[in-house]
Amino acid sequence: VSRISYVNGHYVPHAGAMVHIEDRGYQFADGVYEVIHVCDGQLIDAGPHLERLERSLGEIRIAMPMTRRALGVVLTQVIRRNRLSFGSLYLQVTRGVARRDFPFPAHTAPTLAVTAQRMHPYSAAKVAAGVAVITLPDIRWGRCDIKSIGLLAPVLGKQQARASGAFEAWQLDSAGYVTEGTSTNAWIVDRQGTLVTRPADHRILNGVTRLRLMTLAQDMGLAVLERPFTVAEAQSAAEAFLSSTTTYLLPVTRIDGAPVGSGQAGPVALRLREAYDLFVKNSAARALS
Ligand SMILES: Cc1ncc(COP(=O)(O)O)c(C=O)c1O
Repeated sequence: VSRISYVNGHYVPHAGAMVHIEDRGYQFADGVYEVIHVCDGQLIDAGPHLERLERSLGEIRIAMPMTRRALGVVLTQVIRRNRLSFGSLYLQVTRGVARRDFPFPAHTAPTLAVTAQRMHPYSAAKVAAGVAVITLPDIRWGRCDIKSIGLLAPVLGKQQARASGAFEAWQLDSAGYVTEGTSTNAWIVDRQGTLVTRPADHRILNGVTRLRLMTLAQDMGLAVLERPFTVAEAQSAAEAFLSSTTTYLLPVTRIDGAPVGSGQAGPVALRLREAYDLFVKNSAARALS
């Protein structure tokens, strides 16, 4: 099947899907986005993702381009028209097209674009191998809770990680505490088996996967503590892992070259990954029935 994308009311061949060069997303990164996972053709955790979209838009005073229900219809259509079974939807809302000038334009409708991407599930071997992360100063702005399309710092950070042979870069605030990865939330498991992750303040994006993992962990009887942690603490923790919509949960086995715990994927991370895999499968099955 050829790829179909959605732009402002139209389902169009992906190769010809365009917005104007004076779109404020293009010129000012004046917009926000979401990435929602699709498994077995079904949206996973669409509710919390659309809620977060509405929150991000509210924080930068862009109106929802349509109701949440209508947006759900568009997303379902994009899945169908691409015959997408496993992958993700990217949706972006910008303040729209206007003559270039910094203040909000008076009568401009937001731009809404949706694209679909196929992906391959991570193999059990890949998950079990874990990933390496490096650390970098967090050079982002002060409102990382807004899912802004202004992603230059994460682009540079991820590139540096990949150039160093690492999967992700964990960003550090000025006091040396880990904020989060460039596109993932950061976690450790302390020596008592407690999961530790930074509280969702303005310095991080409150990941939908992060919230889901918290609930699953609590259901499994694991303690979860929201507090900042340092790199040294992470390196001497029992385990570490990262989380996001497209990676689910991946064990972190090295931080700046130093092994975490045993240097192997940890048992808590692997159990939680299993629970999350099951959650995704069950959500898709429930949506299909
Ligand atoms: C900076 C940042 N933190 C965390 C996440 C993980 O969020 P989610 O679990 O909602 O995908 C993302 C996802 O793109 C992100 O960009």
